[in-house]
Amino acid sequence: MTRHFLRDDDLTPAEQRQVLELALRLKAERFAERPLAGPRAVAILFDKPTLRTQLSFTVGVAELGGHPMVVDGNLAQIGVRESVEDTAGVLGRQVAAVVWRTFHQSRLETMARHAGVPVVNALTDQFHPCQALADLLTIAEHAGGLDALRGRTLAYVGDGANNMAHSYLLAGATAGMHVRVGTPTSRRPDADVVDRAATVAAGTGGSVTVLHDAAAAVSGAHAVATDTWVSMGDATGAAEAEQLFGPFRLDAALLGRAEPDAVVLHCMPAYRGKEIAAEVIDGPRSVVFDEAENRLHVQKAVLTWLLERS
Ligand code: NVA
Repeated sequence: MTRHFLRDDDLTPAEQRQVLELALRLKAERFAERPLAGPRAVAILFDKPTLRTQLSFTVGVAELGGHPMVVDGNLAQIGVRESVEDTAGVLGRQVAAVVWRTFHQSRLETMARHAGVPVVNALTDQFHPCQALADLLTIAEHAGGLDALRGRTLAYVGDGANNMAHSYLLAGATAGMHVRVGTPTSRRPDADVVDRAATVAAGTGGSVTVLHDAAAAVSGAHAVATDTWVSMGDATGAAEAEQLFGPFRLDAALLGRAEPDAVVLHCMPAYRGKEIAAEVIDGPRSVVFDEAENRLHVQKAVLTWLLERS
């Protein structure tokens, strides 16, 4: 059966652990796995802007022995010039895997149904599972190892309805973490995702909580994350975002509610003075560049793991 990584809970807790262990091994030994030797090609498609994701998948596919074929969505016009189904059928005959950043999750699901090769979510409107895996790896490294994830509290403040909020809920619950989302009432995460994360957490010893008070969300947390107030494709204006999310800005006072050694995460691009204060993202608790580097290691692990099992 072809395996895909479309959303965080496509990996069981045991599988997520395997992928994170593999990521640690690949971080220590960059060229230990060569599943794409040939070189076999991986199609890396972007319907939205990118820097980190294009970088980390291009470098990662090359390090796995493969050839990264980056496709600008403006050229391919998937779903406009040609259906997702036909695109999947064409790609699947020539590449070892498909990596896609696109809009609605349903486009990715259609790709996965028709490609015949593993498909990886490189961000959709609903989920950003590669980023969440990189964040788990980063938290674990700073907490003393993968075993330390279970039972720790991860607080996310900001837009609770965006892809990062959803991925933190699912990935954190899978890892046995206590995930708190602090967000305005009008930006609650998708109820289906919260329910699914709660079900996963019930089996791992974790928990999920949605709060509308930033200080309560961050209180006693071991890791504090935020994200842009206006995601790619979101029409919320700057003034509206400031009014809505201003109380959830991650500044030094809010961070002061967390554990003294809490790490600060941001998937970037970051907007200093908006969702995060410069003194926080540029301060001693920030691990954002470890996080950005870890995208490379976890994505290599995901590709290797999916190819082995498909
Ligand atoms: N929530 C952000 C993540 C960027 C990596 C967005 O979708 O734009």
